[in-house]
Amino acid sequence: MSAPPPVFPGFDPDEVSSNPSDNPPFGAVAARRMSRRTALRGGTAAAAAFLLAARTGTAAAAPGADPRGLLGFTPVPTADDDTLVVPDGYETQVIIPWGTPVRPGGPAWCPGAGNTAAEQAEQVGMHHDGMHYFPLGPGDEGSRRGLLVLNHEYIDQDLLFPDGPAAMTPEKVAKALAAHGVSVVEVEQRGDGWQVVASPRARRVTGATPVTFSGPVGADHPALRSANPPMGTLNNCSSGFTPWGTYVTCEENWNNYFGTEDPDWRPTAAQDRYGLSATGGGFRWHLADPRFDIAANGNEANRFGWIVEIDPHDPAAVPVKRTALGRFKHESCTVTESRGRVVAYSGDDQDGDYVYKFVGDGSWRAHRAAGRSPLDHGTLYVARFDDDGTGTWLPLLHDAGPLTRAGGFADQADVLLRTREAADAVGATRMDRPEWIAVHPDNRDVYCTLTNGSGWDSAVSPRRPNPYGHIVRWTERGRDHTATAFDWDIFILAGDPLHDPASEPGEDDLFGSPDGLSFDADGRLWIRTDVSNSAQNLAARGYERIGNNQMLAADPRTGEIRRFLTGPRGAEISGLAFTPDRRTMFVNVQHPGEATAAWGAPGPRNPRAVSNWPDFTPDGRPRSATVVVRRRDGGIIGT
Ligand code: FEO
Ligand code: CA
Ligand code: CA
Ligand code: CA
Repeated sequence: MSAPPPVFPGFDPDEVSSNPSDNPPFGAVAARRMSRRTALRGGTAAAAAFLLAARTGTAAAAPGADPRGLLGFTPVPTADDDTLVVPDGYETQVIIPWGTPVRPGGPAWCPGAGNTAAEQAEQVGMHHDGMHYFPLGPGDEGSRRGLLVLNHEYIDQDLLFPDGPAAMTPEKVAKALAAHGVSVVEVEQRGDGWQVVASPRARRVTGATPVTFSGPVGADHPALRSANPPMGTLNNCSSGFTPWGTYVTCEENWNNYFGTEDPDWRPTAAQDRYGLSATGGGFRWHLADPRFDIAANGNEANRFGWIVEIDPHDPAAVPVKRTALGRFKHESCTVTESRGRVVAYSGDDQDGDYVYKFVGDGSWRAHRAAGRSPLDHGTLYVARFDDDGTGTWLPLLHDAGPLTRAGGFADQADVLLRTREAADAVGATRMDRPEWIAVHPDNRDVYCTLTNGSGWDSAVSPRRPNPYGHIVRWTERGRDHTATAFDWDIFILAGDPLHDPASEPGEDDLFGSPDGLSFDADGRLWIRTDVSNSAQNLAARGYERIGNNQMLAADPRTGEIRRFLTGPRGAEISGLAFTPDRRTMFVNVQHPGEATAAWGAPGPRNPRAVSNWPDFTPDGRPRSATVVVRRRDGGIIGT
């Protein structure tokens, strides 16, 4: 087993692996393939042609393609100001910041963070992440009125409570839970911009909302029995949407919320693999709510790490955790279809963890017609990337390969409850923190951000360490998402060539730590970054020229990348959604003003130490928010 080297000073918890397996790391696999690319980066025509071929790949140069490419805006420079910048000719409007009532007339935002838990449960949560726009009405009407559904990844206890995280109380835990989960708001474009409007569908799903389970790990499974009824979804990062009109959200770093003061508690192997520990992520909820005491209530943690399906059109619908899609630190649930079957891609965002896909086992329409969920019936696969540029999807099926009773797996439910260990056993490829996954609308190529990592020692992560991350791309064999073989390449190695000559962006498109990733209908690839606040703006970490987090657009046909937006201090840029006419874009700005090594730390006495975006009121505090972006001439975004 090759232990990764210590990464960089001031690492984040998810930059540290909890994978003890000997599985080949993506880095070692990619190194051999990538050594050709880096050796060729000497400025020769051959090098340029190779690089362009790599960045454009199989999508390249369709006959008759517009030689001007897909990107029609003037790029914006990098930034380190506490502001949000978009290209000339575009305008922005901030909507639904944390604390906005989800129904007009609901409890008003209190600038000093003085809202109660009960009020927070009727307001938009904190830390906006994945998002989708569901149009209401046909044609143009649907581009002016719709449901904006978004999830709230985590909370900043320095900003959530007037007295910060100091003494943990039941009311503070309740408010923290209420600031998590999902918001459904109805929005409408009126003469003076987009607004939240009264809606019977408006709702909050929080860390305390009743939920249920379906699939092989059913609601009555003994591993899910706990002192309290099943409730809540936590750490919802990235998202997806289904062909049948529902929202799917992902439970990522849920382990952080559990802890214990019990000196005798030791994690099981499975708990250890998921990073559960006595100290957790430092939230200290277990001091005030036994639900989160891992020693007293261990099964409660088994209720997290799933994909959660929510019907935004039915406010009475109970959120369902779809266990067939596995249990890990899900980031992304990118749902597509092939041959009538549903396919969902998902990454496990921790250093050294894996990329997965779920393939439905028959027509999703037939399942729906029979009253079954297409997400309850199918096979979960994990990816192995080989250094000849091919890859294999390895099924996680009980009684197949090593996933037997003799191998320590009782049944299919056990395989899914312990997905990471099952994937270890079948020989998946360790990756540099898989985050979002996007499917090209025309050629079906699949793109995945590997945000950064220790690099392991192989080819799919060709740098060791890999502080800037990269985007990997694969083509399913036969362009069929249900296939079990694929061909892969690296779309781009992010970074600043000043610090790392292997970095491929030029001076005009510097970026690092790619995270959010989505295609628009024209095939523009929208890349959002999440440089850790331990590295953002810091020369010592190679991020001073890259500056604040940003969003860029790439044209996969030409390999061109342009920077479209830069965010305020301490924030990442995350969820993205469009109206069907693509004349309105919604972008999530998450955790502005969070503690950063470069700018300082907010606290009860100075919540504005890092940022005061977007309100900039003298007594306010920074708030995650959704930003509406439109062209001043009303044109299609990005053209
Ligand atoms: Fe929540 Fe992996 O970003
Ligand atoms: Ca992310
Ligand atoms: Ca991230
Ligand atoms: Ca983040």
